[in-house]
Amino acid sequence: MFSHLPPDWQSKSSDISLETVFWSRRKFLKTLGRGAIAAGALSLAGCQNNTDAAVSALDETLEAPGATRFKNPFKGTTRNPSFANPQRELTPQKLAASYNNFYEFGETKSIQTAAQRLPTDPWTIEVGGLVQNPTKYDRDDLFKAFDLEERIYRFRCVEAWAMVVPWIGFPMRKILEAADPKPEARFVKFTSFYDPKITTGPLFSFGGLPWPYVESLRIDEMANDLAFFAVGAYGELLPKQHGAPIRSVLPWKYGFKGPKSIVKIEFVDEQPATFWNTLVPDEYGFIANVNPEVPHPRWSQASERLVGDGPALSWTRIPTLPYNGYGEFVANLYT
Ligand code: MTE
Repeated sequence: MFSHLPPDWQSKSSDISLETVFWSRRKFLKTLGRGAIAAGALSLAGCQNNTDAAVSALDETLEAPGATRFKNPFKGTTRNPSFANPQRELTPQKLAASYNNFYEFGETKSIQTAAQRLPTDPWTIEVGGLVQNPTKYDRDDLFKAFDLEERIYRFRCVEAWAMVVPWIGFPMRKILEAADPKPEARFVKFTSFYDPKITTGPLFSFGGLPWPYVESLRIDEMANDLAFFAVGAYGELLPKQHGAPIRSVLPWKYGFKGPKSIVKIEFVDEQPATFWNTLVPDEYGFIANVNPEVPHPRWSQASERLVGDGPALSWTRIPTLPYNGYGEFVANLYT
């Protein structure tokens, strides 16, 4: 499924560095704070979190492909063999959970402490809109209503950094089947948790942002086998900074298409307005499939840096693949 990556990944090319991207985004956001919202300009930023205890859970998971050794509530969960070999090393759990994008809690990658304010229990996720079976799931239902499985996915942020994460969850298709959309439903709209008393990231002070965070897919994209709802990662419950208790993971698209901490799934007939696309339509398209040949207006998308230990500039750089290497699953959706 994935092309084998050559040993000389660490390109010495003059592609824009991740740090440059990061700082240019921060600068961009500051500019935004001085009134650029009116001009419709905004750019993305980052994510973060986790514990040492989690690292041992990761080891266990890795030692036992398809194992039944996951702890509750994931007891009995097995790794889906189709997504067991990402052809790259897993990103250490601690690192993945301490380098995050969750703007509701801040504009830097270090939001893991702030994100702990997110109240995840109780939690209700509402599925409705143009469906035959509107349903409300509470947090525990999420772990029981559908068979859970582990999938190791490559993850590519539009900011040109990448990770490899073992998610636990279920295919989005399961919700689609349960909801039974009416024939006129063409898109699905996901809404993230929003409460200005809790989600007080610095961007709120800028005012005028189209909160809550909304993302959307075409129904046929949602039905694709790769489209996944994650409720766990690294053998454990999803940490808040990764979007507990449920977030979307779409490995062939840039990371911003995967909303965190979802409270509503709505089936609609027209393409909904989405958060980043509303703010900066020229930079964050609705489809947003990973494509090395289409540069972001402010940086190249031809390569990516694997999030790793040490300074960002020493992170391994590797070529970016069309659809993030998942073309065999999804390319037919776009012909
Ligand atoms: N969802 C919400 N609600 N808010 C966000 O800021 N950031 C997106 C996506 N989902 C974001 C979000 C972006 S830009 C990325 S790259 C991924 O979350 C990052 O996921 P991670 O922090 O779990 O790696």
